[in-house]
Amino acid sequence: MDMGIIAVHGGLDTSREKQYLEILQEAALKGYELLLKSRVQALEAVLQVLEKSPKFNCGYGSVLNFDGIVEMDAAIMDGPSSRFAAVAAIQDVQHPISVARALMEKTSNVILAGAGAVKFARAQGFPVADCIAGRQREAWQKARASLARGEKPAQNLYTGLAAPYGDTVGCVLWDGTGLAAASSTGGCLLKTPGRVGDTPSLGGGIFASKTSAVVCTGIGEAFIETLTAKYVDQVIAAGNEPNQATRLALGRLYEQKKAEGGILAVDARGNVGSTFNAGRFPVVVVAGGRLIDNYQPVNLRAEQVH
Ligand code: GLY
Repeated sequence: MDMGIIAVHGGLDTSREKQYLEILQEAALKGYELLLKSRVQALEAVLQVLEKSPKFNCGYGSVLNFDGIVEMDAAIMDGPSSRFAAVAAIQDVQHPISVARALMEKTSNVILAGAGAVKFARAQGFPVADCIAGRQREAWQKARASLARGEKPAQNLYTGLAAPYGDTVGCVLWDGTGLAAASSTGGCLLKTPGRVGDTPSLGGGIFASKTSAVVCTGIGEAFIETLTAKYVDQVIAAGNEPNQATRLALGRLYEQKKAEGGILAVDARGNVGSTFNAGRFPVVVVAGGRLIDNYQPVNLRAEQVH
């Protein structure tokens, strides 16, 4: 395998400090090792590394909802077969992405949510796992205390913390013949219990076809209502490269919703593109088994007044 591509993002406003980039790189390289074997297996391997880390808002490290509970969303899609599966508002599993994969491979269901998703996970042998990292527990306590005083919480919505931290994660890949995408998140700090974001929303925050693989993050509701991931796929199908398609899609999102976001896409020729309009959006790319040096997504923030 010397022509595959894996691109991984660490979410909106995620730190670009070495320690964050190194985990993203480790995840991408691990996925690349499995790329020839199975696209879905490669995606799962990438996201498992990030779900295990307390540094990202997914798996262990997820932000807490209003009630102080972690509810996670994860999704996976294989372009050539158009198979899709997602879990939403799932609790107490270490790897929501693995539950989504099991759903895809072992059932005819497409999305499971809440208690049903947890029940399915247990039936598949996924053990109970504590997903609350200490820093996120403290962040939630501080945010709730601010609300109790009638103040706006200082924490970043995506990362849960005021200091650099990690957000939702996503991965797109091309193995030389097909495209696939996956994403995992704890959602937004203080979200309404039961709230589901764009991560498991087909066409909103994730899409894969014979044309492209796309993952998005940011204000989930805005991505869902604008079907942004599907729009990126359509723009690529019309002959545009992923950089142009993600740029157009983010411009459209901002025009319609005034929302912040980040989009990562790869096309069927192995071209990667990514655009965001926030403080940071770290992306690492492995092409032909090697890390691309200092890959930088396009930042539209300067062009958009928030
Ligand atoms: N983009 C993550 C969420 O809104 O849940």
